[in-house]
Amino acid sequence: MKLAFILLIATVSSELDINLPADLLSDLVERSEDNELAYSLAEGEEEEEPYKYVINYEGTIDDFSGINASYGKCGKEIEQLDVSKMKAPHQIRLSYTGKATEMAITWTTNDTTEHEQVNYGLMMTELNYTSTSISHQYKWRFNETSKEWYYTSGFIHEALMINLIPGRIHYYQIESNGMKSEIIKFVAAPEEGSDIPVSFLHVGDVGTFGTSVMVTNDMMKRMEVKQFHGMIHCGDISYANKYDGERPMDAKNKTFAEQKVWDTWGQMVEPVGSKMAYMAVPGNHELDIWDSTNENGTIYAKRFIMPGNERYFSFAVGMVHFVAVSTDESIDAESTQGQWFKNILTEVNENRDKWPWLVVFQHRPIYNSNKIHGNWTGKNTPQYSGPDLPPFKGWKDQYEALLVEHGVDIVLNGHVHHYERTWPVRNRVETVKSYKNVKYPVHITCGNGGKSLYRFVPKTDYEDSYNETLPLFVAARSNRLWGHCELEFYNRTTVKHAMYVMGEDTPREEHVAVITKSSGSMPACFFNLYLVAVMIFVMI
Ligand SMILES: [Fe+2]
Repeated sequence: MKLAFILLIATVSSELDINLPADLLSDLVERSEDNELAYSLAEGEEEEEPYKYVINYEGTIDDFSGINASYGKCGKEIEQLDVSKMKAPHQIRLSYTGKATEMAITWTTNDTTEHEQVNYGLMMTELNYTSTSISHQYKWRFNETSKEWYYTSGFIHEALMINLIPGRIHYYQIESNGMKSEIIKFVAAPEEGSDIPVSFLHVGDVGTFGTSVMVTNDMMKRMEVKQFHGMIHCGDISYANKYDGERPMDAKNKTFAEQKVWDTWGQMVEPVGSKMAYMAVPGNHELDIWDSTNENGTIYAKRFIMPGNERYFSFAVGMVHFVAVSTDESIDAESTQGQWFKNILTEVNENRDKWPWLVVFQHRPIYNSNKIHGNWTGKNTPQYSGPDLPPFKGWKDQYEALLVEHGVDIVLNGHVHHYERTWPVRNRVETVKSYKNVKYPVHITCGNGGKSLYRFVPKTDYEDSYNETLPLFVAARSNRLWGHCELEFYNRTTVKHAMYVMGEDTPREEHVAVITKSSGSMPACFFNLYLVAVMIFVMI
């Protein structure tokens, strides 16, 4: 029996009708010479008509057919799936382990934990390698009245494909208690240090809304015309804590996250995550006790296979070294993450011949024109501390100093629900308004992946609290458009970043940045030392 749903959304013919007002489609905020902010909305403007769009999916998959999201900033949450009746494996996702010769894979079944394996190889007709899975299951929220659990997961399988040929196309097929899936293609990570161009998608704050489906659909379309090596999800993944806008409550009136949302999200992204490594980092909606509605990172850990401790980790793909940071726990110098962060950046930077590109990805940005939600002031927001939470001290100077000292090129973020890209910047105000030969990190927020968007109106509400004046470091931002982002590392000195607006095949000019740097990636500190040495030499 074939598992037709593996290409769940891809096989569903779709009709997309985005009915946004024309003025919302030319959105980039322009900055005048005197640094006055040109808001896309006039100050004091009242809430206007909600964005209107219609999504009609016509297909044979009942669970995703008939989606009609026509109200709300991000559309109605799509109907949550009940996957408990599914016979075949589902929620298939790949992930890198940190070795170019390996790829981890997870899938879920309902009926069996035996005879679960993945067969793989270099040719569709020769899937000669086999890896059997280990599996686990979890229960969520016991109902004291009915004496039953609100939710019991399927069997979540994890397997490791080894002996891959770096950079080569491979094929795999899941074998589940005698049934076989479709054969799916993926590319193994290029060998560390190779000069092969590397391409990644990246997105944040997605959920399971109408817009989430549309953005995911756009990424699938891009995958039809381009081979990507992986996907970066900068936290706030499924929003299981707020099913249909509400926090579910148990018999004792305690809130809890709705786990069906995780299953729905897993199915929604399967056409992306089953074909390339889907690398995630937890956001506040996975890790923070309140925002995750008591998941507190436990469900994230059960559903993802990331390297290291799965919250902060690193992995290399060819010429690029990615470092994931968990922004809802301390990264102070004396903290475990802080020490790890310093060590990994030091190690990577000592091997820039191998990894000329160093990319950090995380959930909360430190540079963002949102003055509270983005933590760009370097201070923590009070709502993320409390008697039940470990002390969170915010961003201390070590973090940014380490970014600069070790020549981090790009920092990817989510959390703030808009698109924003900085110039190369350090110390808040030291900005170079050029992407040529960059010396400081460029911070990119791609928090427009599906969840409701924030607006550039100066207010005191914490989600919409923006400064009257646009910070100097802002190069581009957009708050009226959902979308996903892409990074294409052409070679050792040039990378192209682009944000693709939802429903559009090509990126708009204002959403594209070509970033170049000198060969060898001389970090700022070494550059300064070099200048001093030259000056001394000249004086002598
Ligand atoms: Fe967030």
